Amino acid sequence: MLRFQVSSLTFSLLLISAGSSVIYGECSRDYFTSNTAYQLNVDLLYTSLIESSSIYNFKIFEIPATGFSQNDVVFGLFQCQGDLSFSRCRDCVARSVSQLKINCPVSIGGTIQLEGCFVKYDNISFVGLEDKMEAFRSCGPSIGHNSDILINRDDALAYVISGIDGHYFRAAVSGSVQAVAQCEEDLTLSECEDCLLEGRARLTSECKTSSRGAVYVGKCYIRYAHQGILKGRYYNRNSKREREFERDIAGGSLRDTNGDREKERDARRQ
Ligand SMILES: *[C@@H]1O[C@H](CO)[C@@H](O)[C@H](O)[C@H]1NC(C)=O
Repeated sequence: MLRFQVSSLTFSLLLISAGSSVIYGECSRDYFTSNTAYQLNVDLLYTSLIESSSIYNFKIFEIPATGFSQNDVVFGLFQCQGDLSFSRCRDCVARSVSQLKINCPVSIGGTIQLEGCFVKYDNISFVGLEDKMEAFRSCGPSIGHNSDILINRDDALAYVISGIDGHYFRAAVSGSVQAVAQCEEDLTLSECEDCLLEGRARLTSECKTSSRGAVYVGKCYIRYAHQGILKGRYYNRNSKREREFERDIAGGSLRDTNGDREKERDARRQ
């Protein structure tokens, strides 16, 4: 696979400032010939991905559907981060597709991860297969051995791995630290947890004392940030799902290490 990412420094800066920035991308080194059935199928896949991203957060495609000539089949999927509204999901997938068209114009396969969504296509099926290969990693500056922040970090990461059963998107806040995790929905939930465990192991070993970190493996990613920088452009207070999501955190079992919520509740009672 050819990478079309620039330096990881640029990426870690973009990661904070722009929700639709490219995290990483890859194009296969095998090329197709223009004006073939495969190219038509890839074009149709691109259109289908964009169209369905305004009504789904995740969808798998096989084009043409099973039963046609097996040589020209293209497989594809998109996965939006679970807290994106459908319109933002669609924007993200449309942007991913235009990046794939620019960077992988005649590649048999390609992969792109933007901050809010993931898109992949290939001529062999990858659906439902586990993939724990690291695709991208970024660690912020060290905050030293500030134990409060690191305890919050570990709590938030533990919570997104095991705290909310049955969801492919998980988010948590512990003190000043936020964490989010997303698995591709073609995994089973136990494969999702395996993938996130692998991501966390890399994250905590590589970004030991970093104020923020992100690890993207083939089928999932896990990120954390001290002081709320994960709430970027995609954080939309007006969306119903997000309000539910905030309530989930407040009512969840996450240990509130600095006790602010308890203090607030006590103050209200008095
Ligand atoms: C996928 O593309 C590669 C490279 O052109 C080719 O060797 C392989 O046979 C193709 N696989 C299928 C299932 O079409």
